[in-house]
Amino acid sequence: MIKLQNLVKRFGPLNAVNSISMAVGRGEVVGFLGPNGAGKSTTMKIITGFLPATSGTVEVCGFDVGEKPVEVQKRLGYLPEGAPAYGDMTPASFLDFVAQVRGYRGAEKQVCIEQIVEKTSLKSVLDQSIETLSKGFKRRVGLAQAMLHDPPVLIMDEPTDGLDPNQKHHVRNLIREMAADKAVIVSTHILEEVEAVCTRAVIISEGRLVADGTPEQLIGRSSIHNAVRIELEPAELDLAKPAIEALDEVGGVDILSRADGRASLRVVSKDGQPITVAVGALMREKGFNITEIYTEKGALDEVFRQITIGEDGTEVNRG
Ligand SMILES: Nc1ncnc2c1ncn2[C@@H]1O[C@H](COP(=O)(O)OP(=O)(O)OP(=O)(O)O)[C@@H](O)[C@H]1O
Ligand SMILES: [Mg+2]
Repeated sequence: MIKLQNLVKRFGPLNAVNSISMAVGRGEVVGFLGPNGAGKSTTMKIITGFLPATSGTVEVCGFDVGEKPVEVQKRLGYLPEGAPAYGDMTPASFLDFVAQVRGYRGAEKQVCIEQIVEKTSLKSVLDQSIETLSKGFKRRVGLAQAMLHDPPVLIMDEPTDGLDPNQKHHVRNLIREMAADKAVIVSTHILEEVEAVCTRAVIISEGRLVADGTPEQLIGRSSIHNAVRIELEPAELDLAKPAIEALDEVGGVDILSRADGRASLRVVSKDGQPITVAVGALMREKGFNITEIYTEKGALDEVFRQITIGEDGTEVNRG
């Protein structure tokens, strides 16, 4: 439903988007991740027809956004970065305006506004001017205008930014519920959000697509994926460590802490395969007194840093 081919956007000497190609199908919720200035918002602006591409193409539901921007915009909802809206309007008048622009009239318009007000919990502030609303309510107004016409394609730039934990939860549920028959792209800096709502995650760095996979696949790239954490008595450490290191499937053993009568070890899997059973069996066989053992999954934020920080350890920063 969304197809990008060799998309490029230059601002003067800067390649903000540098040859991105990808496709998003029905039922997919794709998370756009990447450092500040990576090109996420710029890519979204091009998909929605808000900015022209320097080269490359975008198709939404079969329409080329350069050639048929109105056909594309009919089929998509867009929450721009920062959720801008007309500050001197009220949510009621703003949503009425958006509904009219979207072609709704009369009773049908009323129903569609009521439904979206309900979904985004805006009832209590409908008649207050948007500029006086709190950040979270402003964002909900932005979400409401994006989703009002129930579009098949949704592009949302940091939809949960600035929301309280309850509202974050609510918006994530909303996205999940709607996603079944839509193609959704959301950008976010909240990596746990990716695991909560996205079926797929794409990492963008310096305008390039540098990783693309399910959240699980990306986590699988973590250097501590399938590592085993063991807690045992410090006195046993000097015997246990070499015994574990001698296992074929073990890549290394790190002592994480050694205090208060407990020692904590991390056993790293040599090739990322599960090793917990083998390590547990060894500990039992040797009679070590372990108080805790569990498998570490690895974390998306570690993979994110691994992928987006340069070889020399400097952060990519083009803001
Ligand atoms: N209109 C513009 N003119 C010049 N440079 C721009 C313009 N818009 C964006 N840029 C630059 O393009 C790069 C990508 O910006 P973009 O807003 O797409 O990043 P982003 O990935 O959305 O970052 P963030 O996580 O901070 O929102 C940045 O270096 C930015 O300064
Ligand atoms: Mg952005």
